[in-house]
Amino acid sequence: MAESFNVKLEDTRYTPEKSYQENSWLGGYDPAYQRFLNDPEAFWADIAGELEWYRPWERVREWKHPYARWFTGAKCNITHNCLDRHINGIHRNKVALIWRGEEEGDERVLTYRQLSRQVLRFANALKKLGVAKGDAVCIYMPLVPEHVVAILACARIGAVHSIVYGGFGAAALNTRIRDAKAKIVITADVGIRRGKRVALKTIVDEAVVNAPSVDHIIVLRRTKPQLELYSEMELDFYEIMENVEPVCEPEVMDAEDPLFILYTSGTTGTPKGIVHTCGGYMVGTYYTTKYIFDMKEHDVHWCTADPGWITGHSYIVYGPLLAGATVLITETTPDYPDPGIWWRIIEDFGVTIFYTAPTAIRMFMKFGEEWPEKYNLESLRIIGSVGEPLNPEAFEWYYRVIGKSACPILDTWWQTETGMHMITTTVGEPMKPGFAGRPIPGIVADVVDKQGNPVPPKIGGLLVIKEPWPAMLRTVYNNDERYRQYWEKIPPYYTAGDLAVKDEDGYIMVLGRADDIIIVSGHNLGTAEVESALVSHEAVAEAAVIGVPDVVKGQAVKAFVILKIGYQPSEKLKSDLTYHVRMSLGPIAMPAAIEFVPSLPKTRSGKIMRRVLKAQEMGIDPGDISTLEE
Ligand code: PRX
Repeated sequence: MAESFNVKLEDTRYTPEKSYQENSWLGGYDPAYQRFLNDPEAFWADIAGELEWYRPWERVREWKHPYARWFTGAKCNITHNCLDRHINGIHRNKVALIWRGEEEGDERVLTYRQLSRQVLRFANALKKLGVAKGDAVCIYMPLVPEHVVAILACARIGAVHSIVYGGFGAAALNTRIRDAKAKIVITADVGIRRGKRVALKTIVDEAVVNAPSVDHIIVLRRTKPQLELYSEMELDFYEIMENVEPVCEPEVMDAEDPLFILYTSGTTGTPKGIVHTCGGYMVGTYYTTKYIFDMKEHDVHWCTADPGWITGHSYIVYGPLLAGATVLITETTPDYPDPGIWWRIIEDFGVTIFYTAPTAIRMFMKFGEEWPEKYNLESLRIIGSVGEPLNPEAFEWYYRVIGKSACPILDTWWQTETGMHMITTTVGEPMKPGFAGRPIPGIVADVVDKQGNPVPPKIGGLLVIKEPWPAMLRTVYNNDERYRQYWEKIPPYYTAGDLAVKDEDGYIMVLGRADDIIIVSGHNLGTAEVESALVSHEAVAEAAVIGVPDVVKGQAVKAFVILKIGYQPSEKLKSDLTYHVRMSLGPIAMPAAIEFVPSLPKTRSGKIMRRVLKAQEMGIDPGDISTLEE
């Protein structure tokens, strides 16, 4: 890529009322950032000290590029801090989880104590099945309370969970089960989506073929008559909880023991199993939930992601429970039964912190203001966004229509790899539409050229993180080489793979990916994974996939396909291919358009030049695009 490029920036500001900052946990941005700079290790130690540990750390941080260890020597269990710490204090009967199903009145509420009782029993049930510390457990579930129970039960006994989003198809699930060598798959008979049942167990049946590591499938049976379970291998979620002890002492974990693996798209071949650890991830998600979301005692926190994504791991499950919040989860989709449903949920449950994705905001803009206007959204205090750039139009709509021109918007930039928020405009600081903001206290980030030199304001470059942070990934499962690549592109920094630009105040605007990752509705897709799904169809000789702009989704998938001899282009074949990708990878990966082509632009070495396809698609000179991409 070229050294840098010019970007035109607007300078509009919105400043929330002073009281926001005065009453916030963080206080002003500058003094907090200064506290961090004065003594980074003391800064993190103070935060870690707010949590309970079985043994304190010897060192806050050990850094030997590209490997970091945090809170070395310390012993902990994240569920102790998510559950026991609250139950032993005044929060025993505080509501931990509110679940709302699609049907009106379909609600469940679990206090911290009730949640803990379920987790402990399920943890014992897993143990009884032979699951031990370090074993991998795959969770493939709809958004129901049992999903959260399964996650915490794994963490309780030191099993490493690998959650796969319930929207993924059988091939995607199979790859992830096999890579992690999961011993157990936890699923449900169905998920419910727009009044329809999505048969998850059927997908699991297909996905465990050729997955010899799997000993058992645990099934949450939601529908009547109950789905029949056939072999010894299949077990009922609640039956296995029946004859076990209600008490399960937490496994004493080393701070650096793995907590979970989460697969994210890579630029080549198989997805990357990002590994997060017990201590650092716990401190990072606790810190950002309390000090960045500014979580208070009375808050009702609603993050609209799914636990299958990092956003769900960090800000549905771990962060909010560590901070002792009341968490709302729901299986509802934004437009069913009508586009007012989410606003109604905010009114019904008094949601105070709302965290969603730009794609959802743009979809609501299309539905019109009349939907949110039907409901009372006064409970909202802070609203957030994550997953892709929040464009200024969407920012302004979100601020005015949902936040009633009063709520701070946290446009949070981070990644599966970072585990926690990295860049945002902290509560009470002036916000600039289009800009995520500045690195949060604790994080050192910058925009640099290919050599690692900071670029001046208004000049685009690559986003890097300059210092390790507690919730950073520790490795890529089974592929440490890929881990090192993050730190070796522009050493000694961590390269995020994003293009960005700064303004004079140090605010960072994230422009998009610099590599072959497409972000569709905030979900990361690797072009390679979609291409290999296409090529696995009998009619396809070669395929190339690019992201094209989409008003609502941010980007959509467009595929260029060369057919094998003997196959003719047709509309029927297009829909067959689309269906094939849907069944292999899931609906999120479905191409929005397919074009049959006789050849694809390639480099001398045979690598497909996706940027040329993209340039043609967008009607621009490929030279313009080469400055943007690697
Ligand atoms: O390109 C950035 C974009 O999402 C990527 C990370 O995706 P994933 O690992 O799936 O995690 C998403 C949820 C944390 C980033 O490299 N991204 C995420 N948040 C933002 C963003 N782009 C712009 N603005 C954001 N706030």
